[in-house]
Order: sequence, then structure tokens, then C-alpha cells
Amino acid sequence: MPWGKNGKALDGVRILDFTHVQSGPTCTQLLGYMGADCIKVERPGTGDITRGQLRDIKGVDSLYFTMLNGNKRSITVDSKHPKGKAIIERLIKVCDVLVENFAPGTLDRMGFTWERVHQLNPRMIMASVKGFGPGPYEECKVYENVAQCAGGAASTTGFREGPPLVTGAQIGDSGTGLHLALGIVAALYQRNRTGRGQRVLCAMQDGVLNLARVKLRDQQRLKHGPLEEYSQFGEGVAFGKSVPRAGNDSGGGQPGWILKCKGWETDPDAYIYFITQAPVWGEICDLIGKPEWKTDPNYATPPARLPRLKQIFGTIEEWTKTKTKFEVMTLCNEHDIPVGPILSMKEIAEEQSLRDTGTVVEVDHPKRGKYLTVGNPIKLSDSPCDVKYAPLLGEHNDEVLTKVLGYSAKEVAEIKASGAMSATEK
Ligand code: COA
Repeated sequence: MPWGKNGKALDGVRILDFTHVQSGPTCTQLLGYMGADCIKVERPGTGDITRGQLRDIKGVDSLYFTMLNGNKRSITVDSKHPKGKAIIERLIKVCDVLVENFAPGTLDRMGFTWERVHQLNPRMIMASVKGFGPGPYEECKVYENVAQCAGGAASTTGFREGPPLVTGAQIGDSGTGLHLALGIVAALYQRNRTGRGQRVLCAMQDGVLNLARVKLRDQQRLKHGPLEEYSQFGEGVAFGKSVPRAGNDSGGGQPGWILKCKGWETDPDAYIYFITQAPVWGEICDLIGKPEWKTDPNYATPPARLPRLKQIFGTIEEWTKTKTKFEVMTLCNEHDIPVGPILSMKEIAEEQSLRDTGTVVEVDHPKRGKYLTVGNPIKLSDSPCDVKYAPLLGEHNDEVLTKVLGYSAKEVAEIKASGAMSATEK
């Protein structure tokens, strides 16, 4: 079946994108990748604060911004200006979804409470990211690492003897954006039956906990004895009252660890994740030159191996250190042994297969030139993704005012003269 004969999955869905920084923009970019028309409303002058953060080229929108806002249109509107409010009200009437991740209470202070939005457009879905759900912390402002910590991820990440660690994957921001996108699509589906919009709320703490649920599983297992698949069990270290940090333990039923490969002394990424999956234990023994372990009662079965994981991985590492991570990958995959080379961002940026699938995409930007971004990681066979550059600030002011909202040329001129769309002319 040829790709894309039937348009895009979310063709016809129009989003009033009131998002900023990372969590909300991830969500709307994904919806844009799937065909939704995202109209990003930004504060005149500065726009989304990330446009100017971590800039690598003077005067050009940062990669932080451009990698999170592809496939959107940008319109500058001062939401506190009467004419700006009128534009937003008009947008609410013609959009299907309002997505926002302002600090708690911000949208209400602008005058756009859920009640008001629902009154203006009963079909509208209003989707929000907040740091916490209702409860003691609901008023708090939250960024990525706050969520990683409050959602249980940091406490269970890192090495036992070290402090809690945050991860490089943005599970708080981008993870919650993903959750929100699913909520929006579900609400759109329900609206097909009911004709009514609804509120969608994703708290970052909840999103992180959802991704860390195996640790909540282990918390409950602790009541019934030590967690035998954690290497601290084999090391004879007692468990405390809560789930410990488990270093590179696999966290599942198939023990694993990160092992050094050839060149590790100088290359910080010359490592591989090695999983001693039970069904291929015999193949592992043969490959690393330990065929006797196949029948030795101390090594032959998964329960026998659990108390000696450290020693086993030490022996496997003596073998992996003689090969590059890619050689280990090739040799192991010939025997269906699951391993994962530690790929650096440089290697990922250069990986041709990721370019071929559209997961890493090179985009042309009018001011920056070419830049890399992450395309749609969700592949739909009938809804191809064409990644478009993130819009310049206010690039679509005229287009949205006239074509989407139906303002006349005279009205556009009046709005512009009022200062509702610019930072200076008030
Ligand atoms: N026109 C005029 N004013 C605008 C505007 C516009 N188009 N867009 C935003 N503003 C104003 C808001 O009205 C607000 O003013 P107020 O405080 O006087 O009401 C101000 O900009 C700041 O907005 P806010 O969202 O409160 O940003 P912040 O910089 O204070 O906080 C966060 C940033 C991320 C901490 C906060 O937005 C937050 O906690 N969001 C929810 C959780 C989240 O998404 N966090 C992760 C971000 S990746």
C-alpha cells in the first residue's frame, strides 16, 4: 500500500497551541506530525522562552525551540490586551483543542477558565500539563528534574552507594507530553460520539510514575523478601525499607549489566549492555569460552546464577573487552543474545538507518540553515510524517488572522496598530 494516499491521521484537527518550554510543545509537535494544524500563540517580542535559551547561533532561534516546534504555525498575541483576548476567543471558537502548560492559575488569570472556554466552544477539548495533580503540591511550578524526583525515578536511579540520579531522557517533560497527546486523541474520539469537549490533565509526577511503575512493583515485592534479581542480593547487602538504586541491573527477569568493550580506556562510550537471557545461556557460555558453565550446577540455572551475577558479568566482560561494541553486537546477535551497544549522540546523529526511517531528520530553516531533529517515532502506515521547520516568531500572523479567523485587511491593520501583536507598540 503506498504511503500517504489518504492524507494524515489528524487532518482537520485544529489546535490552539498555548504551550511553551518542553512538555506541552512535545505534545503538539507530535499532533502536528500526525497532521493537526497547530497554531502556536506566543507572547509578542520574546515568544516561547526557549527561542532564546541555549542559543548556538546569535540571533537565531535555538535548537531547543526548533526541535520541539516543527509543523506548527506561530502567531504573536498579547493575551492581556483586549484585542489580543478577542483574537484568542475567536481562536477558541474555531479550534478543536486548546493545549497549555502554563503555571497553575495562569490561564485563569488571563480569563480563560475551563468554564469560559467550554461556554465559547462546547466541543473544545482543553488539555493541560501541570507539575502535580490536585493535592498538596498542585500550585507548584515544575520543571523536568523536579518531576523525575517527585515521580520516583530519581530515587531508583543511580548506584546504591551514590546519590539519587536524574536521567538524560526527558521523561518528565517529553514523557508527559506523550501522555497528553494520547489523552487528546482519546478525547477527540469520544467527542465523535458525544459532541462534547472535555478537560484532559496530565501531571508530570503521574507521567513519571507511570514510566517508573516497575519500581512500585518492586516496592510491594519487598514485603515478601529480598529482590533476588538485584545484584545487591548476590553481594549479600541487606535491603532497606524502600526500593534501592540498582545501578545497571536490568530491573526485569533477565539479568543484565553494562560491560566494557575494546577501547573503553579512551572512549567513554565503548560499552555494551549484556543480557544473560535464560534460553540462550548455553550460547553465551560457548561464546565467552566457558562451556563448562552449561552443566555446572552453580551456573546452569537462572536461580543458581542469581547470587553470583557480579562474578558472571566480570567473566563475560573479560571477553567483551577483547572486542569492539559493534563486534560484540554482531557476534551475540548471531546467537539471538540480546545486547545493546552504548551509542553516543554523535553516533546516533550519524546513523544512516535512523535517517532512512525518518526518526532523525535534517530540516532546512530559513535563518539557521540545516539542523537535525527527531521525526515522528510513531510510524503510521497511512499517515506519513513530513517534518517542517519550526516557525519564526509571528511568521503566520497575517495568514491566521485572515484565513483562519476571517479578519478583513482593515481589521488586521487596526489590530496591529493597537499593539496586541507586538511587544513595543502599546
Ligand atoms: N501574552 C501575555 N502574557 C503571556 C503570554 C502571552 N501570549 N503567554 C504567557 N504570558 C504570561 C502569563 O500570563 C504569565 O503571567 P502572570 O504570571 O502574570 O499570570 C507569565 O507569562 C508566565 O507564564 P507561566 O506559565 O506562569 O511561566 P513561568 O515562567 O512563570 O513558569 C513553568 C514556567 C514551566 C515553571 C510553568 O509554566 C509550569 O509550571 N508549567 C506547568 C508544568 C510544566 O509544563 N513544566 C515543564 C515545562 S517544560
